[in-house]
Amino acid sequence: MLTDETLVHSLSKCMESFTIAASSGQVPSIETLYEMISRSKSVASILPAVEANEHRHSMLQTIIATLEITTKQMENGKREFVRELDGDEQMDTSDDKEKLDSFAASRKNALEATIVTNIESLPLLSDIMGLKEAKEALLEALVDPLLYPEWFEQSNISPWRCVLLFGPPGTGKSALCGAIAREVNARFYTISSSDLISSWSGQSEKLIRSLFDIVLANEEPSIIFMDEVDSLCRKRNTNEDDANRRVKTELLVQISRLQSSKSRVFLISATNCPWDLDPAFLRRFEKKIYIGLPDSEAREALFAKLLERTEMSAEVSWKWLSSVTEGHSGDDIRRLSNEIAFAQFRLYKAAKKIMDTTTRKMLNRDEISGIISKSPPTVSREYVRQFESYAN
Ligand SMILES: Nc1ncnc2c1ncn2[C@@H]1O[C@H](COP(=O)(O)OP(=O)(O)OP(=O)(O)O)[C@@H](O)[C@H]1O
Ligand SMILES: [Mg+2]
Repeated sequence: MLTDETLVHSLSKCMESFTIAASSGQVPSIETLYEMISRSKSVASILPAVEANEHRHSMLQTIIATLEITTKQMENGKREFVRELDGDEQMDTSDDKEKLDSFAASRKNALEATIVTNIESLPLLSDIMGLKEAKEALLEALVDPLLYPEWFEQSNISPWRCVLLFGPPGTGKSALCGAIAREVNARFYTISSSDLISSWSGQSEKLIRSLFDIVLANEEPSIIFMDEVDSLCRKRNTNEDDANRRVKTELLVQISRLQSSKSRVFLISATNCPWDLDPAFLRRFEKKIYIGLPDSEAREALFAKLLERTEMSAEVSWKWLSSVTEGHSGDDIRRLSNEIAFAQFRLYKAAKKIMDTTTRKMLNRDEISGIISKSPPTVSREYVRQFESYAN
């Protein structure tokens, strides 16, 4: 329950930690910054309750003003702190060195986490149904320069380096990318934007730079897979903060570096909303491939693979299953297959309970239609149309 007392206490704690830091005339320590941020958050969390009370309006104004000043000071402190750390070589105190080491170590850990070392965990290309055009285009981009290097040397055409896969969710973009890496036996770095965003300003840029340094220094063919690239490379806008802008700029610089290098590194990105991407990024993707919903043949192949070991009555063919699931994504079909397999398992369990192991009841069309009607497609027609008109 919010009382004036708790409010004043929280506010004074917030100010106290800030005053201690400011009065020393130095950049606040990292611990103090954390402390101040946490205190400010606790004050901010009780603000809505204050707002509800008219009489406390002026108190609220004071708190807001105080928070604004404190936040600004904290940001300055953080910037100063990072600037100091950036002058890596000139650092002399063991305390600072320790902090730098911990940043370097966490950068290293983050980079190591991006490398998929267990290639066997990736799907096989034959596990990916349909997407014929996408498979061919990716293999052409990755394999042909290795098989026919002389052609690429003679002509002034350089192989594609940056490919964008776009399409509705659950259509196999991530799975396809992993399968391609496994097929060509490339080193596979898979990163999502959250891996690249560090809450410490300056650290995200360094992380991106280090990643490209490592990958480009590598002789082996490598693939960097940047998933959900839209959250990192959205159109720039005037309200964007500096940190975001710097991350984007660094990424653009590194992509250009990749494109002008002689290494065998490919960047494959995936997105559900290509229309939100910054034009500067879009321009860098030499090939944009639409990954759409599976067609009837692909749906048939998916059911055949996923329900290979599930017995169903003879009237339930893969063709029939495909015909009643138009509009379902690959992921929808995976989930539906699980449901069907479980429904069949329940029949088995029921028979076992009454000790009847001789009659095997198989799911019929009606029962399967019932299951399908409870799992409608997750991607709307309207959304698909949006992709199709973007793709053409
Ligand atoms: N064409 C396909 N062939 C085989 N499996 C597929 C296909 N499409 C989807 N799947 C399966 O559906 C699941 C989800 O696929 P995946 O994560 O690759 O989709 P995505 O397009 O990357 O989705 P998102 O846009 O949400 O990231 C995976 O288990 C994948 O194997
Ligand atoms: Mg994905």
